[in-house]
Amino acid sequence: MLFGKKQSLVGLDIGSHTIKAVELEPLPNRTFRLARWGISAPLAEAIVDGEIMDRQLVTDSISNLFESRGIRSRSVVAAVSGRAVIVKKITMNRLSAEDAQQAVYWEAEQHVPYDINDVSLDFEILGAAPNDPKQMQVLLVAAKKDMVMSFGDLIREAGLSPAVVDVDSFAAQNALEANYDFAPADVIAILNIGAEITNINIIQAGVPYFTKDLQVGGNTFIEAAQRKFGLSQAESAAAVRGESGSGLELTPVIEGACEGLATALERAQAYLRTSGEAGAISRIMLCGGSALTPGVPEFLGRRFGVATEIANPLTRVSYDPALFAGQDVMKVAPLLTVGIGLALRRVGDKR
Ligand SMILES: Nc1ncnc2c1ncn2[C@@H]1O[C@H](COP(=O)(O)OP(=O)(O)OP(=O)(O)O)[C@@H](O)[C@H]1O
Ligand SMILES: [Mg+2]
Repeated sequence: MLFGKKQSLVGLDIGSHTIKAVELEPLPNRTFRLARWGISAPLAEAIVDGEIMDRQLVTDSISNLFESRGIRSRSVVAAVSGRAVIVKKITMNRLSAEDAQQAVYWEAEQHVPYDINDVSLDFEILGAAPNDPKQMQVLLVAAKKDMVMSFGDLIREAGLSPAVVDVDSFAAQNALEANYDFAPADVIAILNIGAEITNINIIQAGVPYFTKDLQVGGNTFIEAAQRKFGLSQAESAAAVRGESGSGLELTPVIEGACEGLATALERAQAYLRTSGEAGAISRIMLCGGSALTPGVPEFLGRRFGVATEIANPLTRVSYDPALFAGQDVMKVAPLLTVGIGLALRRVGDKR
């Protein structure tokens, strides 16, 4: 394959609002070019609470997306979402990586609320525990086998072959680390604000110290504005996107709906500081469609007093501007973050 074309990588992000596909072409020196991308039409309740209610609609949307965007590669990297996965940081006696495998399985039995035989486990040793050098911290990722299988089946039903399975918040981290230089001392809170769920991931020096999925997202904003102003769902969605020019006082409504996010971040920060694992959050990076909701970055920035920005996961990915003809890249790229992070995964790469 010396002179052959390197195989492109396709990330498939199946969200509750839309499905996103991102095809990246590897260039020399571990750089990438965006070859194609696509976002499906809204799925209209085909996925609710992480559960697929309408399999046919989802598989049709995936095949249509690949077809209409001319994505020919059939091998995709996807992420299992929300409830199917448990991410937990555990502390255990310090062991070598080889000895850890068995011990982690044993430890996992106590931390995973399912029969351990029904679960696929992955783990990463994060390092020594901050308060006790004889202990180490391990990041445990457990997914129910039947859910992973059923998710794989879904992708196969769409005519694709799923390669690696990842988790949304780690995919977002992967995308941002590939596009930004974070200093070792930086404590970055990555918030992937989708329609149903916000994935929080607080990282330092590449290590995820705190991950949590909150049930806050665009739907929360839309429902809050609907209740407050008596709008239809469509009117409210347009208002929340800042499109309606309605003159409605949306800021307090959005801020109220963001309160849960801010509180969760404050608690996470307090926990990380008390346990000595990480310092105060020094930067907030937002991605996902609802990060674009007017007022959200400003609210979080004010609350935490740190630089808060909407991330651009295409900062270091080259692309032909024609791919975004007529669209503002900064209004599309944040939605592609997870897809980009997935496409950047290579088979065999962990986390
Ligand atoms: N320009 C915009 N301004 C404000 N909100 C937007 C904009 N574009 C998209 N959204 C909102 O973002 C949400 C979709 O974001 P995203 O595609 O990240 O979610 P998802 O991955 O489908 O959902 P989830 O991850 O929660 O299952 C919707 O609520 C949509 O209304
Ligand atoms: Mg999403």
